[in-house]
Amino acid sequence: MGRLVVISNRVADPRKTAAGGLAVALGQALEASGGLWFGWSGRITEGGTPGEGEVNRQQAGPVQLVTVDLCRDDHDAYYERHSNGVLWPVFHYRLDLADFDGGSISGYRRVNQLFALKLKALLRPDDLIWVHDYHLIPLAAELRAMGCEQRMGFFLHIPLPPPLMLAALPEHEWLMRSLFAYDLVGLQSEADVTHFARYASDELQARAEGDHGWHAFGKTLQVQAFPIGIDVDEFQALTRQREAQDMHDQLRREYARRRLLVGVERLDYSKGLPQRLKAFRTLLQKYPENQGSATLIQIASPSRESVDAYASLRAELESLSGAINGEHGELDWMPVRYIHRNVARKRLPGLYRAAAVALVTPLRDGMNLVAKEFVAAQDPEDPGVLVLSRFAGAAEQLKEALLVNPYDTARTAEAIQRALQMPLAERQQRHQALLQRIRTHDVHWWRERFLRALQATPAQEKTV
Ligand code: G6P
Repeated sequence: MGRLVVISNRVADPRKTAAGGLAVALGQALEASGGLWFGWSGRITEGGTPGEGEVNRQQAGPVQLVTVDLCRDDHDAYYERHSNGVLWPVFHYRLDLADFDGGSISGYRRVNQLFALKLKALLRPDDLIWVHDYHLIPLAAELRAMGCEQRMGFFLHIPLPPPLMLAALPEHEWLMRSLFAYDLVGLQSEADVTHFARYASDELQARAEGDHGWHAFGKTLQVQAFPIGIDVDEFQALTRQREAQDMHDQLRREYARRRLLVGVERLDYSKGLPQRLKAFRTLLQKYPENQGSATLIQIASPSRESVDAYASLRAELESLSGAINGEHGELDWMPVRYIHRNVARKRLPGLYRAAAVALVTPLRDGMNLVAKEFVAAQDPEDPGVLVLSRFAGAAEQLKEALLVNPYDTARTAEAIQRALQMPLAERQQRHQALLQRIRTHDVHWWRERFLRALQATPAQEKTV
């Protein structure tokens, strides 16, 4: 294999634990090939020129990290207004939250062109190029226009919505057509692949070719589901470390006579947080034995705060958790511990292991790795129960979780009650099946399958 080049909006030093499982997994493949990781530096320069940016280089062991600074205009247009203000909501089926007028296709394209230009100067002819996520969909088309002929793959970490929802994007045809500049497109779930197939045939008049191919614009693109996993061993090793153990012991002491439920995510409207809190409130009302006992620790870490939809969600959650605590709290017990702060990744396995139930109930999610991390962190002798939304990509794989429709508050409350009451033998059985699935379909399996498929794509005319 040639050198691996990974491109994503955010770049992390793979040697740092805080970077998380994906960075670690990509880091391993990058290390093996002396690879390059390219993306935004996370820095915004005030008063710079749009379409230009300083390049920074850093060595992380054998891996080269190369990042580009963005000027304020570019950052706001490409990242905030277009990627987060338009693409994120549309791809998560939330046309109501998409700010189409505030979006900036020109800014989005300008930054993709800037990245392509800076990256091109660093590429070698036999590089294998792997682009990640919705910020960078047109990157390959820009690279091809500059004459790059390397094999290029793209992986979408978020869902791909049905064609008529995509069609709400004023530039949907341009955006989807630009995918044909890649050799391989990976999606999270079979549902996403079905949406792609319908879009390609209905809107682009593409023709199916072979098992996974789509022919249009004089070339064939391979499209397949590659459900992303976690590094189970890495996460279980974290579970055994001091920070996680201390967290676990402290929570077990504190909740010795109570039941702990846990939810962990970025504060994002795709995660179904208000619906979850309402289901928890219904649980307390409908099953009074939980009064004084069931406690939900909900971590909703700050995210994309300058986008309006996030600010109003924050206010809604503060009011809802306050209302539930006001209605049900006692002098020595509060049902909801709502935390709008970052919690160190090293402590999370301890929190997961101490919990009787995890609530992973997004309204829509590409995969959801918290569901998998929760499973990995459990004690197999006395495991907790996963309550999982059927609308998370993970639900296609994690069938032994209690699957719920998060919009159905009453039934979600019933499922939580069932989870709290589940006999030990059933918990063990379900956990064993889930653990086996996340082990065989871990992040290394995901990465190798994707890279093998990319290398196997037929050589062909690259321009679109
Ligand atoms: C999701 C996206 C990632 C993104 C992450 C954090 O998981 O798929 O691409 O990096 O959210 O969001 P942020 O906007 O802070 O990068």
